[in-house]
Amino acid sequence: MPSSPASKTTGAAQFVPEGKNWAALRAAAAGCRGCELFHDATQTVFGEGPVPARLMMVGECPGDHEDTEGHVFVGPAGRLLDKALADAGIKREKTYLTNAVKHFRFVERGKRRIHQQPRRGEVVACFPWLREEIRVVKPRLVVALGAVAAKALLGPSFKLTEHRGEVLEHEGVRVGVTVHPSAVVRAENFTEAYERFVADLVVLKKS
Ligand code: URA
Ligand code: SF4
Repeated sequence: MPSSPASKTTGAAQFVPEGKNWAALRAAAAGCRGCELFHDATQTVFGEGPVPARLMMVGECPGDHEDTEGHVFVGPAGRLLDKALADAGIKREKTYLTNAVKHFRFVERGKRRIHQQPRRGEVVACFPWLREEIRVVKPRLVVALGAVAAKALLGPSFKLTEHRGEVLEHEGVRVGVTVHPSAVVRAENFTEAYERFVADLVVLKKS
């Protein structure tokens, strides 16, 4: 991994074409070098789903599978999310899914690539893409999956534990918050964590 801080890079804004549609944004994002993460990752993983869509969900950043395949939420967290969406009565194919950060951040341990949470500087650098996705998708509600997405949308001091399951309005965007599906996958009490996650999604779906 390069060790220079993300603050030395200039962010995604210079790569974002103005006022373009989703396909043009996705194409431009493929060439983004707004932070150092493009260096070691395989490809930009842009959001996917219907445009426009009533519901948008925002994860953290692509994982190992997403990086290789170039699609959002196709690994273990994605499988959990698929099941939870189905159990909450939400259709994945009607939902626009994306991430706060569009490149995989990882460290290598032998042959394995271990996911690393993106840093604040990378979240800020990547935000112009998310802002553009919100502009073209025009969701009625944006659901932040986990603290990284919630802080990207609501600011760095946002506390997920205090607002889980709530809908907040920020800069004209309605943002609902819950945990990240990976946190459910890893939970000590899986059943309880899963049921709470689905319950949040049911509440947010109606919001
Ligand atoms: N985790 C995320 O936050 N997003 C993905 O696309 C996959 C795993
Ligand atoms: Fe650009 Fe975001 Fe990738 Fe950084 S993570 S290079 S800002 S698309």
